[in-house]
Amino acid sequence: MKKKTFFITTPIYYVNDVPHIGHAYTTIAADVVARYKRLAGYDVFFLTGTDEHGQKVQQAAGQSGKDPQAHVDDLHVRFKELWVRFNISNNDFIRTTEERHKKVVHEILQKLYDEGEIYKKNYEGWYCMPDERFWTEKDLVDGNCPECGRKVEKINESNYFFKMGQHRDWLVDYINQNENFIQPKSRRNEILGFLKQPLDDLCISRPTERLSWGIPLPFDYSDYVTYVWFDALINYISTFGTLDKIHACDYWPAAHHLIGKDILTTHSVYWATMLKAIGLPLPQNIFAHGWWTVNGQKMSKSLRNVVEPNHLIDQFGVDVIRYFLLREVPFGLDGDFSHKALIGRINSDLANNLGNLLNRTLNMLKKYFKGELPKPDTKGDEDAPLVAKSAEVIKEVDRLYGELAYSKILAKIWEFLDAGNIYVNDTAPWNLAKTDDGKKRLATVLYNASEACRVIAILIAPFMPETADKMMTQLGIDTPIEKQGLDSIKKWGWIKSGTQTHQGAQIFPRIDDKAAAKILESVDIGGNVETKADQKSESDDKGQITIDDFMKVDLRTAKILEAENVKKSKKLIKLKVDLGTEQRQVLAGIAEAYEPEQLVGRTVILVANLKPAKLMGLESQGMILAGSNGDAIILGGFDSDLPPGVRVK
Ligand code: MSP
Repeated sequence: MKKKTFFITTPIYYVNDVPHIGHAYTTIAADVVARYKRLAGYDVFFLTGTDEHGQKVQQAAGQSGKDPQAHVDDLHVRFKELWVRFNISNNDFIRTTEERHKKVVHEILQKLYDEGEIYKKNYEGWYCMPDERFWTEKDLVDGNCPECGRKVEKINESNYFFKMGQHRDWLVDYINQNENFIQPKSRRNEILGFLKQPLDDLCISRPTERLSWGIPLPFDYSDYVTYVWFDALINYISTFGTLDKIHACDYWPAAHHLIGKDILTTHSVYWATMLKAIGLPLPQNIFAHGWWTVNGQKMSKSLRNVVEPNHLIDQFGVDVIRYFLLREVPFGLDGDFSHKALIGRINSDLANNLGNLLNRTLNMLKKYFKGELPKPDTKGDEDAPLVAKSAEVIKEVDRLYGELAYSKILAKIWEFLDAGNIYVNDTAPWNLAKTDDGKKRLATVLYNASEACRVIAILIAPFMPETADKMMTQLGIDTPIEKQGLDSIKKWGWIKSGTQTHQGAQIFPRIDDKAAAKILESVDIGGNVETKADQKSESDDKGQITIDDFMKVDLRTAKILEAENVKKSKKLIKLKVDLGTEQRQVLAGIAEAYEPEQLVGRTVILVANLKPAKLMGLESQGMILAGSNGDAIILGGFDSDLPPGVRVK
């Protein structure tokens, strides 16, 4: 039977940029899904690449005295090499300067031109040189570019336009009818808001006298090159060859285009309308993730705080970084990178939880069975809940992959890890080993604990492929993980009795306080931002906090979906709130000031990274901000609408 296909993409990265954790983030996220789907038996195609045309490349090449092609030939390698280091399993790496790509861009331009979808007109507008974009007078903010704030120039010239404006109505309908087309929901609303205005036609050419480093227009070859976005977006299909081949190919439409929030309009409006005009179906999903800041600040060369992934890999290893980026922040929200948080995760999640279960299991196998996996023997009450938990987690993880809820997937896998550790605690193998009868039960316990480790290895393999392989080696399993596949964990008991296990070194050793202090001391981003910030907060005796301290509080807009009084409590109201990418239960002490019905639909401010706490036996996952002058309690809010999940600072 033919396998089901699955196509996933990352943006193609500007070749001029030095790859940083923001780029690595999208690529790792795409890689995890690609690996998972392969494990699940899909025929996966995973595409990434580099965006190599445009003004900035032309300028940079000029400054280094190089021909632009030689310049991009040199630079694109930085991305390719980084993806190899990160164990990225892409099936293709496309470069927009490759002939195969240019051919498809030409074919599409010519087709749209012949069909009257592209026309030429004289145009006067404001042009932002660095962003290579035209703006209308009403778009400008204080006379400057609305995107980057820099100066714009008035330009009057003839250009070619794609008739994008005519597509507005069906696009709005399409977005309304296809809930999953743009995610998260807050981004979908953002695009629907954008489409409330009339949609302009898209200028898709640049005169060669201004910019020559681009793909020449096939119907006006010597005078114009293609606008870099029109060229770049086509990479998602040019990987498959000519239009005929694309139509015939099983991978299109893509299951997911993963992108950052800054390039949402180009994907959900430009690309969607281009595809419609070309006659191709739209991607099933465009998911816009948030941005990483560093210790609360935007990453930038001038602040010297660009987190360089190669350094992180050298210091912590590939899997730790892959894990951290996807565990720390819900996909879709902005996140803040700090070495401190990274070390915290290594110690609590990886060394303590994951390392612990594998280590103690292998240790006891060695001690009581010379490392050889025994045949399960006496059953016990603790077994069935462990097996049931495994099935529940596997099912839920699969569902969460559909939502690209990476952080929740990992949290779910860790629930099973906890269940494994509890199983070992409850069965107390060290006591069982004392009697002959106990030893029969011990055989079952260690068999189950080993199978639990294997299930975990398979579930974490998409996130941490090297770790999963190491776990398999220590468990003595030589069948590659891809061969075992996801099906092998759907039924308990794949691992064979008699397998000789090999306890090796701790997979994730703890970073003790001394080593952690040394690492933080050596961090050189933004001039030791992390350690300096710490010193400042310690030495401050006026009760003031630094901006870094403040930025640790993750304040978000949250929309109240449901509200009800907590039984037997005069003060508490139980709320269900929408954070854009997830829903949470929060308890607020506002029952004396508000009726539950008054609250539904309001947008409030939530402390989103507050440790969950139990109040009257109910979990509260965050805190809502309100002010009080003694008797009246008034909820904080905004004087006009903001979507849920927006960071408040
Ligand atoms: N070349 C275009 C994309 C064309 S796709 C047809 C481009 N390139 S980029 O290199 O500037 O950005 C690539 C991706 O990196 C974007 O999705 C962007 O959101 C992401 N990031 C850049 N900085 C980032 C962070 N600080 N954090 C997270 N992602 C960020 O745009």
